[in-house]
Amino acid sequence: MNKKTVRDIDVKGKRVLVRVDFNVPLDKKTGVITDDTRIRAALPTIQYLVDHGARVILCSHLGRPKGQVKEGLRLTPVAVHLGKLLGQPVLKTDDCVGPEVEAAVAALGNGDVLLLENLRFHAEEEANAPAFARQLAGLADVYVNDAFGTAHRAHASTEGVARYLPAVAGFLMEKEIDYLGRAVENPEHPYIAIIGGAKISGKIEVLENLLGKVDALLIGGGMANTFLKAQGFYVGDSLVEDDKLDLAREILSRGQNKLHLPQDVVVADAFDANAKRQVVDVLAVPEGWRIMDIGPKTLAAFEQVLRPARTVVWNGPMGVFEFPTFAAGTQRMAELLAHLDAVTIIGGGDSAAAVAQIGLEAEMSHISTGGGASLEFLEGKVLPGVAALLDK
Ligand code: 3PG
Repeated sequence: MNKKTVRDIDVKGKRVLVRVDFNVPLDKKTGVITDDTRIRAALPTIQYLVDHGARVILCSHLGRPKGQVKEGLRLTPVAVHLGKLLGQPVLKTDDCVGPEVEAAVAALGNGDVLLLENLRFHAEEEANAPAFARQLAGLADVYVNDAFGTAHRAHASTEGVARYLPAVAGFLMEKEIDYLGRAVENPEHPYIAIIGGAKISGKIEVLENLLGKVDALLIGGGMANTFLKAQGFYVGDSLVEDDKLDLAREILSRGQNKLHLPQDVVVADAFDANAKRQVVDVLAVPEGWRIMDIGPKTLAAFEQVLRPARTVVWNGPMGVFEFPTFAAGTQRMAELLAHLDAVTIIGGGDSAAAVAQIGLEAEMSHISTGGGASLEFLEGKVLPGVAALLDK
């Protein structure tokens, strides 16, 4: 990575504003954190700063409160949880700017950790308002961005603030850029991408960008239905984006021998976890049934393609994996990747959740903490939160 990191600056006794992505899922009823991956992923940077005597001021968004204070989106449970993980108290303010915050920052000693309240309680955060960015910057001497998951947003805390403080990357940001950058810039070949998920829309630019770089592109999930229909297959009541059929044809003609689509599929008689299911050839989807997963023949074919891979990027599940009866394709794909002798990079969001659900996280080279951010990275876009950091 060609950006400066926390290793390149002196942090002892400095007030260090760290943008983290603590946008974690919370249980709707209890408010309990249901997945703390993003909090754990930020620990190396926070611990490094603590160990090097910095005064650590963490800031994050949580959810989309749209400039309003929403009690259910306060970061207080995150501060408590982080305190347990760090083994030291994490102070917390009820706002992210203003006199209360300034007093709390002034009272920090070396090695203390403070978490500011949800940045998005202020509309100025998403508007990237310069005055708000200056207020945040005024709290600190140095700025560290470790929020890869939010690096595709040009917000006050991810982009604006970097105009007013020396700005460097944290360790999570560095790791994400190193792995995803390798996939985008100089992958070891054979380089294979697996793209799934419900829809083509939202992944068009990823498909187009990757097609020019990979040796093979395997397509599964709901988006494969649109490609199958575009090729003239009957897909029954499957989810299809009819307005993307022309685009699918264009990608198919560009992809030619690189694209691999399902050969057989698991179909259901309803979109339901307990629906009737059967495995059929893609030529034989019954009327009134819908495609819910890839089938065993497809998995065997995908395995053949994947076997020699040296670099693999996977984004998007192979089927409706939230229903256990239709999760086999996604699970098997995770197992295949776990056994490859290749650099395996998992895009964030659903594919990361699937790998975690199967307990194979440790078997992958890298699992991104960014959903939208990792997609934009794979599209070849420059992320504003990364661009704003100091070059090496
Ligand atoms: C994410 O969860 O993808 C990031 O935290 C960004 O959140 P946002 O999509 O609400 O900007």
